Amino acid sequence: QPLLRSLDAYTDEEQMLRETVVKFAEDVIAPKVREMDENEMMDPAVIQGLFDTGLMGIETSEDLGGAGFSFTSAIIAIEELAKIDPSVSVMCDVHNTLVNTVLRKYGTQAQKEKYLPKLASTDLGSFCLSEPASGSDAFALQTRAKKDGNHWVLNGSKMWITNSYEANVFLIFATIDPSLGYKGITCFIAEKDMGIQIAKKEQKLGIRASSTCTLNFDDLKIPEENVIGEVGKGYKIAIEILNEGRIGIAAQMLGLAQGAFNKAVPYTYQRSQFGQPVGTFQGMAFQIAQAAIDIESARLLTYNAARRKDEGLEFTKEAAMAKYWASVVAQKVSGQAIEWAGGVGFTRETGIEKFWRDSKIGAIYEGTSNIQLQTIAKFVQKQYS
Ligand code: CAA
Ligand code: FAD
Repeated sequence: QPLLRSLDAYTDEEQMLRETVVKFAEDVIAPKVREMDENEMMDPAVIQGLFDTGLMGIETSEDLGGAGFSFTSAIIAIEELAKIDPSVSVMCDVHNTLVNTVLRKYGTQAQKEKYLPKLASTDLGSFCLSEPASGSDAFALQTRAKKDGNHWVLNGSKMWITNSYEANVFLIFATIDPSLGYKGITCFIAEKDMGIQIAKKEQKLGIRASSTCTLNFDDLKIPEENVIGEVGKGYKIAIEILNEGRIGIAAQMLGLAQGAFNKAVPYTYQRSQFGQPVGTFQGMAFQIAQAAIDIESARLLTYNAARRKDEGLEFTKEAAMAKYWASVVAQKVSGQAIEWAGGVGFTRETGIEKFWRDSKIGAIYEGTSNIQLQTIAKFVQKQYS
């Protein structure tokens, strides 16, 4: 059952966080969005600002330097950042919902004490699962880890790694023995200066300020105490964290849709043709109304999944639904927003077209839309067969 009662009931803490994020996004990020997109580079002041504003340790406990807030708070931050810039949003999202969460959930006390304070204050994190030959089929990864005394030695490469150009901390999934299938996958934590090489930075259609790189590991030596969780249980860590992370991407896509809507709709009431504001023609007004419904439905699915997670209820199916649907809505609404603003929407000056370019990634990363449908289909089949 959906948790309808709590969807709109933000706590004082969540409300306060939302206001902080809105102010930071409008004051610090908004003036830099276009420049960062055109330069395909995150401004260091924005990254620093995310740390200074407390947005890089949202769920990390206060004694480890974080804010100690709920998962829903992280979702609120990701949504608000995406209204202004989906690139900054995904930087914050991966760092919080994938990297910090793996440590909080599976790290030893020593690993938490060593890494979580740094991740909340200075060091950006990356989550390294995908490889050139294993994307959707993530558990077919080939990066190899071999034990050598009190170290593990990693060889292989990772592809499409968000944040990796600027990151210092890397969660790496590698297999200790390919003959074990996915039961050989193990999660390691590594630092940049252990020898992680950036082989290529991608040039992308959207979220261009967010870095996406191929990484090479050439006899990368990782101390044995840097294994996270049990050897051979890395696959479970990866997918359990992705189940949560997918709600983060839903929030990013939701914020994106709302951001495009916020930019284009006021314009339709300012711009007149045939003696009346273009937004008041029924052909326009009904499209705008439909988009408002689409955004609201994505919001309900996203916050329902987030609340279920916070309440300790099963949320895998709900997360897949939220990510799938918010990605559809983001692409549809941002595309319409360009049309509502006419020629002006097609130029780079307004930033509306950027939302549309940025929206395409929602259907690809953290499990493509087909992977979400497959996940949902398995639940339906289980329930009805
Ligand atoms: N939740 C929990 N466990 C799951 C699960 C889920 N959603 N899906 C599969 N599993 C478990 C199964 O229970 C099984 O474990 P046990 O043997 O212990 O029971 C194991 O995983 C293997 O199950 P399958 O044989 O069904 O799995 P598969 O090999 O066919 O595919 C998958 C599994 C790789 C997880 C695939 O379903 C998937 O999700 N692919 C997408 C990969 C992905 O999301 N990558 C994201 C990379 S990070 C990223 O993208 C970040 C970013 O951009 C910002
Ligand atoms: P493929 O798996 O080759 O899929 C190609 C097509 O086939 C898709 O349409 C897919 O839906 C379809 N398909 C595949 N299998 C099935 C199936 N069983 N049933 C139906 N259709 C299927 N990965 C990380 O580990 N960390 C990151 O930080 C990260 N960030 C990323 C950032 C960006 C910008 C991008 C583009 C990717 C990122 N990824 C990251 C990788 C991302 O998770 C993968 O791209 C994604 O999982 C899809 O894998 P693929 O690109 O290999 O596509």
